[in-house]
Amino acid sequence: MKNLLHNIDKVLLMGPGPSCVPGEVYKALSCNSLGHMDYYFIQIMDECKKLLQELFNTNNRLTLPVSGTGSAGMETCFVNLVERGDRVLILINGVFGKRMADVAGRLGARVDTLEFEWGMPVESDRVAEQLAHETYKIVAVVHAETSTGVRNPVEAIGQMVREHGALYLVDTVTSLGGIPVEADRWGVDALYSGTQKCLSCPPGLSPVTFSERAVQVISNRSGKVPNWYLDMNMIIQYWEGKKRVYHHTAPINMLYALYQALLVLFEEGIEQVFERHIKEHRRLVAGLESMGLEMLVSSEYRLPMLNSVKVPTNVDEAAVRSALRKDHLIEIGGGLGPLAGQIWRIGLMGHTAREENVERLLLALKTILKR
Ligand SMILES: Cc1ncc(COP(=O)(O)O)c(C=O)c1O
Repeated sequence: MKNLLHNIDKVLLMGPGPSCVPGEVYKALSCNSLGHMDYYFIQIMDECKKLLQELFNTNNRLTLPVSGTGSAGMETCFVNLVERGDRVLILINGVFGKRMADVAGRLGARVDTLEFEWGMPVESDRVAEQLAHETYKIVAVVHAETSTGVRNPVEAIGQMVREHGALYLVDTVTSLGGIPVEADRWGVDALYSGTQKCLSCPPGLSPVTFSERAVQVISNRSGKVPNWYLDMNMIIQYWEGKKRVYHHTAPINMLYALYQALLVLFEEGIEQVFERHIKEHRRLVAGLESMGLEMLVSSEYRLPMLNSVKVPTNVDEAAVRSALRKDHLIEIGGGLGPLAGQIWRIGLMGHTAREENVERLLLALKTILKR
């Protein structure tokens, strides 16, 4: 019988995620599976929690990886905190802010949005103005907007949200492990991420953390969390305490992979990892600009791990991506929504952010564009 797994190309993943996975992490995936209540596996779960607390810069007790990709983390944060009729403000400057508004709306929240131009950051002044006139239970924003490559001013917004008295919900799917995430210092109450970006682990888990204030809100809800699988009140009983209570079968080998990915990151040193992202981002931008290409986002709020490049007017955007994939075994991303066909998105996430990868992509792009 034909086995498609025998013919998978070794593609250099330089798109908006997933990113390249180091050998140690692939090896971790193939370790012997243990039972989800096994005492040794529980030690691995506990270590994952500790490493995530360190990476999030938080003392939050309720810190763990949710079973599911980044969107499951998004759902987890909203579904646990929102009750029907709650007022929620979402700050939108790309696809993932829009997704948040959709998720909150489906839960019966009364959602207000502030929208900003794609490619530009959320403006703190407009947020301040909105908070001066309206009262919200939750304010939510994306730290690193993957659809554009913009870094939003999460710290400044956090201060306003705290003064306003609302809960602060932040998406760090693309930022975590590539630029600093400081949940406690920013006053974040609920935060989620994903494994397949700067953590350089395959997709499948979503690390989340909730502040004590958020935990109080969750435990004092007037009704049950309207989603059994993502109910933190139940999940915590599996992830905490001397005697663990089965909730759902944990994705054992994915948790091995996350654990190993976090070890790889801390062994290199978190500051060194951040510096490597910036260094390779600068190398990439210099190379692209020397080819006459232009970046979408202004340098003050550009993300190092997600680089949006304007497609020149005489170039077929999709044809270039296809040639990169087929002739050079390199994946990059295209634009989404209003930016579809107008930009390429080049990821320098985690393990991908290395000199040899940047040089290989620049050379391949040069060859294709010459043609
Ligand atoms: C900023 C951001 N939030 C949320 C998500 C959703 O994550 P997933 O696709 O892993 O469900 C993504 C995925 O690219 C993202 O970039």
